[in-house]
Amino acid sequence: MNGVTTPIVIDTDPGVDDAVAIMLAIASPEVEVKAVTTVFGNVALDATTSNAGRLLALCERADVPLAAGAARPLVHPQRGLAAEWHGTDGLGGRAAALPAPAAPDGRTAVELLADVLRASDRPVTLVPIGPLTNIALLLAVHPELAGRIGRIVWMGGSLGAGNTDGFTGGPPPRSAEASTHQTRGGGVAEFNAHCDPEAAHRVLTQADVPVTMVPLDLTLRCPAGPEWIDALAAAGPRCAALAAVITHYRAAFRERYGIDAVAVHDAVAVLEAVLPGTLRTTAKPIAVACDLGPARGATVGMPEGSGPPVQVALDADTDKVLAEILERLRRLG
Ligand code: RIB
Ligand code: CA
Repeated sequence: MNGVTTPIVIDTDPGVDDAVAIMLAIASPEVEVKAVTTVFGNVALDATTSNAGRLLALCERADVPLAAGAARPLVHPQRGLAAEWHGTDGLGGRAAALPAPAAPDGRTAVELLADVLRASDRPVTLVPIGPLTNIALLLAVHPELAGRIGRIVWMGGSLGAGNTDGFTGGPPPRSAEASTHQTRGGGVAEFNAHCDPEAAHRVLTQADVPVTMVPLDLTLRCPAGPEWIDALAAAGPRCAALAAVITHYRAAFRERYGIDAVAVHDAVAVLEAVLPGTLRTTAKPIAVACDLGPARGATVGMPEGSGPPVQVALDADTDKVLAEILERLRRLG
Protein backbone atom coordinates (compact mmCIF):
# COMPACT_ATOMS: atom_id res chain seq x y z
CA MET A 1 0.00 0.00 0.00
CA ASN A 2 1.50 3.34 -0.97
CA GLY A 3 -0.24 5.14 1.89
CA VAL A 4 -2.67 6.93 -0.40
CA THR A 5 -6.20 5.74 0.17
CA THR A 6 -8.66 5.31 -2.69
CA PRO A 7 -11.93 7.20 -2.23
CA ILE A 8 -14.88 4.94 -2.87
CA VAL A 9 -18.68 5.10 -2.79
CA ILE A 10 -20.64 1.90 -2.24
CA ASP A 11 -24.05 1.76 -3.95
CA THR A 12 -25.93 -1.08 -2.36
CA ASP A 13 -29.15 -3.03 -1.75
CA PRO A 14 -28.47 -4.76 1.60
CA GLY A 15 -28.79 -7.69 1.35
CA VAL A 16 -26.74 -10.18 3.32
CA ASP A 17 -23.73 -10.28 1.02
CA ASP A 18 -23.96 -6.49 0.77
CA ALA A 19 -23.56 -6.44 4.56
CA VAL A 20 -20.36 -8.47 4.27
CA ALA A 21 -19.17 -6.11 1.53
CA ILE A 22 -19.91 -2.89 3.41
CA MET A 23 -18.15 -4.13 6.53
CA LEU A 24 -15.20 -5.31 4.45
CA ALA A 25 -14.81 -1.82 2.96
CA ILE A 26 -15.00 -0.21 6.40
CA ALA A 27 -12.33 -2.60 7.68
CA SER A 28 -9.94 -1.91 4.80
CA PRO A 29 -7.50 1.01 5.26
CA GLU A 30 -6.67 1.07 1.53
CA VAL A 31 -9.99 2.76 0.83
CA GLU A 32 -11.89 5.66 2.30
CA VAL A 33 -15.65 5.12 2.18
CA LYS A 34 -16.79 8.62 1.21
CA ALA A 35 -20.48 7.68 1.10
CA VAL A 36 -22.97 4.84 0.96
CA THR A 37 -25.92 5.14 -1.40
CA THR A 38 -28.84 2.76 -1.54
CA VAL A 39 -31.02 1.33 -4.25
CA PHE A 40 -33.98 -1.05 -4.48
CA GLY A 41 -33.06 -4.65 -5.17
CA ASN A 42 -32.96 -7.55 -2.73
CA VAL A 43 -35.69 -5.78 -0.78
CA ALA A 44 -37.45 -2.43 -1.17
CA LEU A 45 -35.56 0.87 -0.91
CA ASP A 46 -36.81 1.77 2.57
CA ALA A 47 -35.39 -1.50 3.90
CA THR A 48 -32.12 -1.34 1.98
CA THR A 49 -31.60 2.20 3.29
CA SER A 50 -32.46 1.29 6.88
CA ASN A 51 -30.21 -1.77 6.62
CA ALA A 52 -27.29 0.26 5.32
CA GLY A 53 -27.79 2.70 8.20
CA ARG A 54 -27.81 -0.15 10.71
CA LEU A 55 -24.59 -1.58 9.31
CA LEU A 56 -22.87 1.80 9.52
CA ALA A 57 -24.09 2.13 13.11
CA LEU A 58 -22.88 -1.39 13.92
CA CYS A 59 -19.41 -0.36 12.76
CA GLU A 60 -19.66 3.02 14.54
CA ARG A 61 -19.37 4.79 11.21
CA ALA A 62 -22.44 6.98 11.29
CA ASP A 63 -20.07 9.69 10.03
CA VAL A 64 -20.27 8.14 6.55
CA PRO A 65 -22.94 10.03 4.57
CA LEU A 66 -25.85 7.80 3.57
CA ALA A 67 -28.41 8.65 0.90
CA ALA A 68 -31.28 6.76 -0.68
CA GLY A 69 -31.57 6.55 -4.45
CA ALA A 70 -33.86 4.78 -6.87
CA ALA A 71 -36.90 2.97 -5.50
CA ARG A 72 -37.54 1.20 -8.80
CA PRO A 73 -35.90 0.46 -12.18
CA LEU A 74 -35.51 3.05 -14.94
CA VAL A 75 -38.15 1.72 -17.34
CA HIS A 76 -39.96 -1.54 -16.53
CA PRO A 77 -41.08 -2.74 -13.08
CA GLN A 78 -38.82 -5.00 -11.03
CA ARG A 79 -39.82 -8.61 -11.65
CA GLY A 80 -38.99 -9.95 -8.24
CA LEU A 81 -37.14 -9.35 -5.03
CA ALA A 82 -34.77 -11.74 -3.31
CA ALA A 83 -36.36 -11.89 0.13
CA GLU A 84 -36.28 -15.69 -0.01
CA TRP A 85 -32.47 -15.43 0.11
CA HIS A 86 -31.99 -12.34 2.24
CA GLY A 87 -35.07 -12.52 4.47
CA THR A 88 -38.03 -10.15 4.28
CA ASP A 89 -36.05 -7.52 6.18
CA GLY A 90 -33.05 -7.97 3.86
CA LEU A 91 -30.68 -9.01 6.65
CA GLY A 92 -31.76 -12.55 7.34
CA GLY A 93 -34.41 -11.50 9.85
CA ARG A 94 -31.72 -9.90 12.03
CA ALA A 95 -32.12 -6.25 11.07
CA ALA A 96 -33.96 -5.35 14.28
CA ALA A 97 -31.17 -6.94 16.32
CA LEU A 98 -28.67 -4.48 14.90
CA PRO A 99 -28.22 -0.93 16.23
CA ALA A 100 -30.72 1.72 15.21
CA PRO A 101 -29.89 2.94 11.69
CA ALA A 102 -27.66 5.92 11.12
CA ALA A 103 -29.84 8.68 9.72
CA PRO A 104 -29.77 9.16 5.95
CA ASP A 105 -28.43 12.40 4.54
CA GLY A 106 -30.99 14.89 3.25
CA ARG A 107 -29.65 14.47 -0.30
CA THR A 108 -30.66 11.89 -2.87
CA ALA A 109 -28.12 9.28 -3.90
CA VAL A 110 -27.41 11.11 -7.15
CA GLU A 111 -26.88 14.40 -5.30
CA LEU A 112 -24.56 12.78 -2.76
CA LEU A 113 -22.60 10.93 -5.46
CA ALA A 114 -22.21 14.18 -7.42
CA ASP A 115 -21.06 16.09 -4.34
CA VAL A 116 -18.49 13.41 -3.51
CA LEU A 117 -17.15 13.47 -7.07
CA ARG A 118 -16.92 17.27 -7.13
CA ALA A 119 -15.17 17.44 -3.76
CA SER A 120 -12.63 14.68 -4.32
CA ASP A 121 -9.04 15.61 -5.17
CA ARG A 122 -8.58 12.09 -6.63
CA PRO A 123 -10.62 9.93 -8.96
CA VAL A 124 -13.35 8.10 -7.05
CA THR A 125 -14.05 4.39 -7.45
CA LEU A 126 -17.78 3.65 -7.53
CA VAL A 127 -18.68 0.19 -6.24
CA PRO A 128 -22.28 -0.65 -7.15
CA ILE A 129 -23.27 -4.01 -5.67
CA GLY A 130 -26.94 -3.96 -6.63
CA PRO A 131 -28.92 -2.83 -9.67
CA LEU A 132 -27.15 -0.08 -11.65
CA THR A 133 -30.05 2.36 -11.57
CA ASN A 134 -28.37 5.05 -9.43
CA ILE A 135 -25.20 4.92 -11.51
CA ALA A 136 -27.15 5.25 -14.76
CA LEU A 137 -29.05 8.21 -13.31
CA LEU A 138 -25.82 9.85 -12.10
CA LEU A 139 -24.29 9.58 -15.59
CA ALA A 140 -27.49 10.97 -17.14
CA VAL A 141 -27.87 13.93 -14.78
CA HIS A 142 -24.17 14.73 -14.44
CA PRO A 143 -22.28 13.70 -17.59
CA GLU A 144 -19.75 16.39 -16.71
CA LEU A 145 -18.66 14.34 -13.67
CA ALA A 146 -17.87 11.09 -15.53
CA GLY A 147 -14.23 12.13 -15.75
CA ARG A 148 -14.03 12.25 -11.96
CA ILE A 149 -14.89 8.57 -11.66
CA GLY A 150 -11.74 6.47 -11.63
CA ARG A 151 -13.61 3.29 -12.39
CA ILE A 152 -16.79 1.41 -11.63
CA VAL A 153 -16.44 -1.99 -9.99
CA TRP A 154 -19.81 -3.70 -10.28
CA MET A 155 -20.89 -7.00 -8.79
CA GLY A 156 -23.31 -8.23 -11.39
CA GLY A 157 -23.92 -10.03 -14.61
CA SER A 158 -23.03 -13.52 -15.66
CA LEU A 159 -21.53 -14.90 -18.85
CA GLY A 160 -22.83 -18.34 -17.98
CA ALA A 161 -25.93 -19.33 -16.03
CA GLY A 162 -27.91 -16.77 -14.11
CA ASN A 163 -29.46 -16.89 -10.66
CA THR A 164 -32.96 -15.76 -11.46
CA ASP A 165 -35.65 -17.97 -12.88
CA GLY A 166 -36.81 -15.47 -15.42
CA PHE A 167 -39.73 -13.82 -13.76
CA THR A 168 -39.62 -14.25 -10.02
CA GLY A 169 -36.20 -12.82 -9.44
CA GLY A 170 -35.22 -15.79 -7.37
CA PRO A 171 -33.56 -19.06 -8.32
CA PRO A 172 -35.95 -21.95 -8.99
CA PRO A 173 -36.54 -24.49 -6.21
CA ARG A 174 -33.71 -26.96 -5.74
CA SER A 175 -33.51 -29.34 -8.67
CA ALA A 176 -33.41 -33.10 -8.12
CA GLU A 177 -29.80 -33.07 -9.23
CA ALA A 178 -28.50 -30.44 -6.84
CA SER A 179 -25.03 -30.58 -8.36
CA THR A 180 -26.40 -30.10 -11.85
CA HIS A 181 -28.47 -27.18 -10.61
CA GLN A 182 -25.36 -25.57 -9.14
CA THR A 183 -23.57 -25.67 -12.49
CA ARG A 184 -26.53 -24.59 -14.59
CA GLY A 185 -27.94 -22.13 -12.13
CA GLY A 186 -31.38 -20.66 -12.53
CA GLY A 187 -32.37 -18.77 -15.65
CA VAL A 188 -30.01 -16.72 -17.77
CA ALA A 189 -29.91 -13.40 -15.95
CA GLU A 190 -28.00 -12.47 -12.81
CA PHE A 191 -30.13 -10.71 -10.21
CA ASN A 192 -28.60 -7.19 -10.28
CA ALA A 193 -28.75 -7.06 -14.07
CA HIS A 194 -32.22 -8.63 -14.02
CA CYS A 195 -33.51 -5.89 -11.72
CA ASP A 196 -32.70 -3.12 -14.19
CA PRO A 197 -31.37 -4.27 -17.57
CA GLU A 198 -31.71 -0.80 -19.10
CA ALA A 199 -29.50 0.65 -16.38
CA ALA A 200 -26.96 -2.11 -16.94
CA HIS A 201 -27.02 -1.44 -20.69
CA ARG A 202 -26.39 2.27 -20.09
CA VAL A 203 -23.43 1.70 -17.79
CA LEU A 204 -21.80 -1.24 -19.57
CA THR A 205 -22.08 -0.22 -23.22
CA GLN A 206 -21.36 3.52 -23.43
CA ALA A 207 -17.73 3.72 -22.40
CA ASP A 208 -17.74 6.99 -20.52
CA VAL A 209 -16.19 5.30 -17.47
CA PRO A 210 -13.95 2.21 -17.17
CA VAL A 211 -16.00 -0.68 -15.80
CA THR A 212 -14.87 -3.83 -14.05
CA MET A 213 -17.70 -6.37 -13.92
CA VAL A 214 -17.55 -9.07 -11.24
CA PRO A 215 -20.00 -11.73 -12.43
CA LEU A 216 -21.51 -14.87 -10.97
CA ASP A 217 -19.02 -16.87 -13.01
CA LEU A 218 -16.41 -15.86 -10.43
CA THR A 219 -18.40 -15.04 -7.30
CA LEU A 220 -20.02 -18.48 -7.20
CA ARG A 221 -16.50 -19.92 -7.09
CA CYS A 222 -15.91 -18.15 -3.76
CA PRO A 223 -18.18 -20.10 -1.39
CA ALA A 224 -17.68 -19.22 2.27
CA GLY A 225 -18.09 -22.51 4.13
CA PRO A 226 -18.67 -23.51 7.77
CA GLU A 227 -15.09 -22.90 8.90
CA TRP A 228 -15.15 -19.41 7.40
CA ILE A 229 -18.47 -18.57 9.00
CA ASP A 230 -17.43 -20.02 12.37
CA ALA A 231 -14.19 -18.03 12.33
CA LEU A 232 -16.18 -14.89 11.56
CA ALA A 233 -18.63 -15.59 14.37
CA ALA A 234 -15.78 -15.98 16.86
CA ALA A 235 -14.00 -12.75 15.93
CA GLY A 236 -15.93 -10.38 18.20
CA PRO A 237 -19.35 -8.84 18.63
CA ARG A 238 -19.58 -7.03 15.30
CA CYS A 239 -18.48 -10.12 13.38
CA ALA A 240 -20.83 -12.28 15.45
CA ALA A 241 -23.70 -9.98 14.49
CA LEU A 242 -22.71 -10.34 10.83
CA ALA A 243 -22.49 -14.13 11.16
CA ALA A 244 -26.01 -14.12 12.62
CA VAL A 245 -27.20 -12.10 9.60
CA ILE A 246 -25.70 -14.81 7.36
CA THR A 247 -27.65 -17.65 9.02
CA HIS A 248 -30.84 -17.32 6.91
CA TYR A 249 -28.80 -16.91 3.69
CA ARG A 250 -26.82 -20.05 4.61
CA ALA A 251 -30.02 -22.05 5.12
CA ALA A 252 -31.30 -20.87 1.73
CA PHE A 253 -28.09 -22.05 0.01
CA ARG A 254 -28.33 -25.39 1.80
CA GLU A 255 -31.98 -25.82 0.83
CA ARG A 256 -31.57 -24.85 -2.83
CA TYR A 257 -28.08 -25.97 -3.69
CA GLY A 258 -27.48 -28.68 -1.10
CA ILE A 259 -24.24 -27.09 0.03
CA ASP A 260 -23.25 -25.65 3.41
CA ALA A 261 -21.65 -22.46 2.11
CA VAL A 262 -22.69 -18.97 1.02
CA ALA A 263 -21.67 -16.84 -1.94
CA VAL A 264 -20.25 -13.54 -0.73
CA HIS A 265 -20.83 -12.04 -4.19
CA ASP A 266 -20.61 -8.35 -3.25
CA ALA A 267 -17.59 -8.72 -1.00
CA VAL A 268 -15.60 -10.15 -3.92
CA ALA A 269 -16.26 -6.95 -5.86
CA VAL A 270 -15.35 -4.75 -2.89
CA LEU A 271 -12.09 -6.67 -2.45
CA GLU A 272 -11.17 -5.80 -6.05
CA ALA A 273 -11.81 -2.13 -5.29
CA VAL A 274 -9.69 -2.42 -2.13
CA LEU A 275 -6.87 -4.40 -3.77
CA PRO A 276 -6.95 -3.61 -7.50
CA GLY A 277 -5.77 -6.53 -9.58
CA THR A 278 -6.85 -9.19 -7.08
CA LEU A 279 -9.26 -10.49 -9.70
CA ARG A 280 -7.97 -11.47 -13.13
CA THR A 281 -10.03 -9.82 -15.85
CA THR A 282 -10.67 -10.33 -19.54
CA ALA A 283 -11.58 -7.32 -21.70
CA LYS A 284 -14.86 -8.07 -23.44
CA PRO A 285 -17.74 -6.00 -24.80
CA ILE A 286 -20.95 -6.86 -22.98
CA ALA A 287 -24.48 -6.78 -24.38
CA VAL A 288 -27.50 -6.72 -22.07
CA ALA A 289 -30.84 -8.23 -23.08
CA CYS A 290 -33.41 -5.46 -22.56
CA ASP A 291 -36.38 -7.17 -24.18
CA LEU A 292 -39.33 -8.35 -22.10
CA GLY A 293 -38.82 -12.02 -22.85
CA PRO A 294 -37.51 -14.80 -20.60
CA ALA A 295 -33.88 -13.82 -21.20
CA ARG A 296 -34.40 -10.25 -19.97
CA GLY A 297 -31.34 -9.07 -18.08
CA ALA A 298 -28.94 -11.59 -19.59
CA THR A 299 -25.40 -10.21 -19.98
CA VAL A 300 -23.63 -11.61 -23.00
CA GLY A 301 -19.95 -11.47 -23.89
CA MET A 302 -19.59 -10.06 -27.41
CA PRO A 303 -16.85 -10.17 -30.06
CA GLU A 304 -13.90 -7.82 -29.71
CA GLY A 305 -14.57 -4.57 -31.52
CA SER A 306 -18.35 -4.82 -31.22
CA GLY A 307 -18.44 -2.31 -28.39
CA PRO A 308 -16.41 -0.73 -25.61
CA PRO A 309 -14.54 -3.37 -23.60
CA VAL A 310 -15.62 -4.15 -20.05
CA GLN A 311 -13.02 -5.71 -17.74
CA VAL A 312 -14.81 -8.93 -16.84
CA ALA A 313 -13.39 -10.64 -13.73
CA LEU A 314 -13.37 -14.33 -14.53
CA ASP A 315 -10.57 -15.70 -12.41
CA ALA A 316 -8.83 -15.29 -9.07
CA ASP A 317 -7.09 -17.23 -6.34
CA THR A 318 -10.47 -17.91 -4.72
CA ASP A 319 -8.99 -19.31 -1.50
CA LYS A 320 -6.93 -16.14 -1.15
CA VAL A 321 -9.98 -13.98 -1.86
CA LEU A 322 -11.99 -15.65 0.91
CA ALA A 323 -9.07 -15.57 3.36
CA GLU A 324 -8.43 -11.88 2.66
CA ILE A 325 -12.09 -10.98 3.18
CA LEU A 326 -12.21 -12.89 6.46
CA GLU A 327 -8.93 -11.49 7.75
CA ARG A 328 -10.14 -7.95 7.17
CA LEU A 329 -13.58 -8.51 8.67
CA ARG A 330 -11.98 -9.92 11.80
CA ARG A 331 -10.27 -6.56 12.34
CA LEU A 332 -13.71 -5.16 13.21
CA GLY A 333 -13.95 -7.44 16.22
O1 RIB B 1 -26.61 -11.94 -7.96
C1 RIB B 1 -26.02 -11.55 -6.74
C2 RIB B 1 -26.36 -10.14 -6.44
O2 RIB B 1 -27.77 -10.03 -6.27
C3 RIB B 1 -25.76 -9.63 -5.12
O3 RIB B 1 -25.50 -8.26 -5.21
C4 RIB B 1 -26.83 -9.90 -4.12
O4 RIB B 1 -26.79 -8.97 -3.03
C5 RIB B 1 -28.07 -9.66 -4.93
O5 RIB B 1 -28.34 -8.28 -4.91
CA1 CA C 1 -26.30 -6.70 -3.54
